[in-house]
Amino acid sequence: MTDRSPQTAEIRLAPMTEANRALVTSLELAQEQVDFVASNSDSLEEANDDVDAQPRAIMLGDRIVGFLMYEAPADDCEARIYRFMIDRAYQGRGYGKAALREVLAEIGRLGHIRHVSICYGPENKGARHLYRAAGFVEEGLDEDGEMIADLVLSARADNP
Ligand SMILES: CC(C)(COP(=O)(O)OP(=O)(O)OC[C@H]1O[C@@H](n2cnc3c(N)ncnc32)[C@H](O)[C@@H]1OP(=O)(O)O)[C@@H](O)C(=O)NCCC(=O)NCCS
Repeated sequence: MTDRSPQTAEIRLAPMTEANRALVTSLELAQEQVDFVASNSDSLEEANDDVDAQPRAIMLGDRIVGFLMYEAPADDCEARIYRFMIDRAYQGRGYGKAALREVLAEIGRLGHIRHVSICYGPENKGARHLYRAAGFVEEGLDEDGEMIADLVLSARADNP
């Protein structure tokens, strides 16, 4: 799959606003994917109570095609991407890959982050493939049986 097609080049991240909130909460996953990630409405509620949460709409031009959330506390060199989804109608077109590239670039621009961690169910082949291709290295399962993977940003800068 080419990740620099005209379409994927249109992928960008936008902050959450009152205007895009309803569109983000209406995004859908395939039935077999709903257990892979919390619902977007739950994530946005969580973000309301967490000053470190950075929720973003994933935009294709003016259309919202996905949602992600990360944290990159100012007093830590590690960021964590803990929500990531592309609406079922837009999957398989390179948008997930493009959005991951955008969020890693955004995190890199913060300047104080050296590692980015991510976690996913070990049975989640799509997530595993996507993150591995971006350079994330699996570190093992956490106490909840979720796979933790880590990306060293400086290493990535040598091989974007
Ligand atoms: C994981 C997810 C974000 C990928 O988004 P996407 O837009 O479909 O991904 P892309 O089209 O950019 O594909 C990226 C790569 O992953 C591969 N891929 C995507 N889904 C896959 C699957 N189910 N199995 C194996 N590989 C898969 C693609 O082939 C592509 O590989 P390539 O670049 O080597 O060709 C999307 O499937 C999703 O929202 N899943 C449900 C939520 C979820 O699991 N989130 C992650 C855990 S928080």
